[in-house]
Amino acid sequence: MSRKVVGILGSPRRIGNSAKMLEAALSAMEEDGFEAELIYLMQKNIKYCIGCGTCLAKGECIQDDDMAEIKKKIEEADAVILASPVYYLHVTAQMKTFIDRMLPYGHRPTLVNKYGGSISVYAGVGDIDSVVQYMNRVLEAWGIIPVGYVTAFGVIPGEITEEDLKKASELGIKISRAVKEGFAWKPSSDSKELRQQLINLIKNYGHLLKADYEFWKEKGVIE
Ligand SMILES: Cc1cc2nc3c(=O)[nH]c(=O)nc-3n(C[C@H](O)[C@H](O)[C@H](O)COP(=O)(O)O)c2cc1C
Repeated sequence: MSRKVVGILGSPRRIGNSAKMLEAALSAMEEDGFEAELIYLMQKNIKYCIGCGTCLAKGECIQDDDMAEIKKKIEEADAVILASPVYYLHVTAQMKTFIDRMLPYGHRPTLVNKYGGSISVYAGVGDIDSVVQYMNRVLEAWGIIPVGYVTAFGVIPGEITEEDLKKASELGIKISRAVKEGFAWKPSSDSKELRQQLINLIKNYGHLLKADYEFWKEKGVIE
């Protein structure tokens, strides 16, 4: 069975700069033997998280939309790449809506034995590194090991350079290697702290966050 990579595009521009960067990363992985799929969030029916907490209490989301299909694809993949342009100093609304709906994985990191990375493009306003680092932190929260990220400058579609596309391909190759050979990685002190804060939350609200509580209890993290 061939290895799979899923690319998640948060830009509303299907042929924009982030799309081109993501395509370059995915093509490099295809050349390396992966089956690649690009998911355009803009074309999907993804409702907002309504904060009901059912996914944390009972395990499953109550909403009926395209998230079930996207989650299945991610669960079956060996690698995940998140790509979003910078919109108002952060990821796009499409990307954030998708991330919010991935809440159960943030509380119960079951997307393990997978590798990933992030891509962002901006027009030079703000701190783009914080945006890609945010996306990689999200991957890490789900259990996915982030192996790198790429950023580029671009205002109108097609403005990114050959050099940028090369960097995106290199990210793809790095992720491919990580899947095949593993990757020396240790959680940062920052992510360890986030994990501890999450455990504290689940301990204190275990009567509500029942699915989370059981998950961490089984792991021996909570008594
Ligand atoms: C609503 C909106 C907000 C934006 N906010 C920022 C921003 O805060 N900083 C920035 O550098 N560029 C910003 N941009 C510019 C985009 O990041 C830039 O055009 C990028 O190349 C778009 O990538 P895409 O082609 O993948 O959609 C914004 C664009 C839009 C439409």
